[in-house]
Amino acid sequence: MTAVKTSLPRRKFDAVIVGAGGAGMRCSLQLAEAGLNVAVLSKVFPTRSHTVAAQGGIGASLGNMSEDSWYWHMFDTVKGSDYLGDQDAIEFMCREAPKVVYELEHFGMPFDRNPDGTIYQRPFGGHTANFGEKPVQRACAAADRTGHALLHTLYQRNVKARTQFFVEWMALDVIRDAEGDVVGVVALEMETGEIMILEAKVTVFATGGAGRIWAASTNAFINTGDGMGMAARAGIPLEDMEFWQFHPTGVAGAGVLITEGVRGEGGILLNSEGERFMERYAPTLKDLAPRDFVSRSMDQEIKEGRGCGPNKDHVLLKLDHLGADTILKRLPSIREIAMKFANVDPIKEPIPVVPTIHYQMGGIPTNFYGQVVAPKSPGGPSEIVNGMYAIGECACVSVHGANRLGTNSLLDLVVFGRAAGNHIVEQNFKAKTHKDLPADAGDFSAARVAKLMDSKDGESVRGVADDIRSNMQQHCGVFRTTELMDEGVEVINKLAKRAEDVFIKDKSKVFNTALVEALELANLTETAKATMVSAAARKESRGAHAHRDFPERDDSNWMKHTLWYSEGNRLDYKAVNTKPLTVETFQPKKRTF
Ligand code: FUM
Repeated sequence: MTAVKTSLPRRKFDAVIVGAGGAGMRCSLQLAEAGLNVAVLSKVFPTRSHTVAAQGGIGASLGNMSEDSWYWHMFDTVKGSDYLGDQDAIEFMCREAPKVVYELEHFGMPFDRNPDGTIYQRPFGGHTANFGEKPVQRACAAADRTGHALLHTLYQRNVKARTQFFVEWMALDVIRDAEGDVVGVVALEMETGEIMILEAKVTVFATGGAGRIWAASTNAFINTGDGMGMAARAGIPLEDMEFWQFHPTGVAGAGVLITEGVRGEGGILLNSEGERFMERYAPTLKDLAPRDFVSRSMDQEIKEGRGCGPNKDHVLLKLDHLGADTILKRLPSIREIAMKFANVDPIKEPIPVVPTIHYQMGGIPTNFYGQVVAPKSPGGPSEIVNGMYAIGECACVSVHGANRLGTNSLLDLVVFGRAAGNHIVEQNFKAKTHKDLPADAGDFSAARVAKLMDSKDGESVRGVADDIRSNMQQHCGVFRTTELMDEGVEVINKLAKRAEDVFIKDKSKVFNTALVEALELANLTETAKATMVSAAARKESRGAHAHRDFPERDDSNWMKHTLWYSEGNRLDYKAVNTKPLTVETFQPKKRTF
């Protein structure tokens, strides 16, 4: 046994969960209720995690409004993913959906109600009855604040279950021992500047996405890809990072989300000629086609000169015809957002909108129990990384494939947060003993912090981060080309070098936000590199990856998941699991709506 040399303070838990959003808190609840000693770390107060921003609903085939089935939900999800989603995981998620939603209802989540007392459900993009025949109402909604209601419900249940929260703590690095097993994390207490080792029998990453690698984003400022950065530095590859979803309706110029629930309630998109253009692109689902489809159609309208406003750079989302009563009852926050960020009252005027980055389909590779499963090096067999789970947006199960259906993100959080919790309990981690820490545990993170605190000159953190964001915006947008992406790879590689030598002026230990931003920059850089390199390599169009030089999907060559390794900036690929658990495979078909 190697004695630990580190002088860093240490604490021990059965489980450490990094991130207090919907996935982290659904998992911690399962663990705390089963009697595990569980710590949840969060950069912000738990109810300020980004899940709070989810608006329109959580998908589940409850059938409260008309007939529905988990199998139709599965079909929509596979088709929505452009056939890149793993069908075993998708079956698991869609089957579990009604159960996890009823569980939330019993936890006290304040869903909207139908007159008969059942949960209200609204239509959402790509959700259909009978395998694409017509739209179905599957999004279980709490007005336009579903994520807010969900997060507060889970927080209250966790407080009751005595989950321990480490608020304003930032995880810096994962600790792996000589066998590659994960034995905890190194973390920074933001208030005191103290670095601590949190030892754990099991470590769960629930750190959310990295939407802040783009300049225009619906994401919170905390979404800096911390989980992906830590995984990449620890030798774990990132899967399918080229697939990023543009939400069709971000407020033009501000990026703030306007829920798809607006179109679910009957809102429509108009071009400068007053035409409801989605009727041309998607004759059956129209404005409720999946997001990749709608975003491309909007981009096309703008490029062809039918954009609105003095610069012809956005389209309009019209909802005044829904009437004040519906808007005030079902979409109260949307009205507030439109008034504050677009200076329009949607009861009277349309909202100017543009496709805006919203969600990453890729992430840390896992199975549907949330266990991290990855080759040790390119070309090697996939193996379980002992002691490590990843759930929610930072994970790639993969249920979203190349394009996620709206409402499947909240569903993913609770289904896989719960599944990971159950699996950890079943594996009896409580009874296991802690593995020894490696002798150099924490040294790497401590050195990273010391380098920043000692920095005398160098690049500004904000400058490099802003350049990363404009690089992504410029070279990896709704439509991509070989030339643009190759250029983007060159730029990000140079930016990654610049990010190694940044300077922070503030050397205080107490609430040093400059230090936190510099540490976040390392994670932004890994995620942006993974995205650019994976995107430049994929020579086809699939889901959210729309390649002008390769406009068709190419199943013979590209029906495979990408794996990006930070070491050597290298790529590898692995097979898609097209075998569901109990039903027939949905065979790839051309996607029309
Ligand atoms: O449009 C929305 O309300 C977003 C939902 C989602 O991303 O699932």
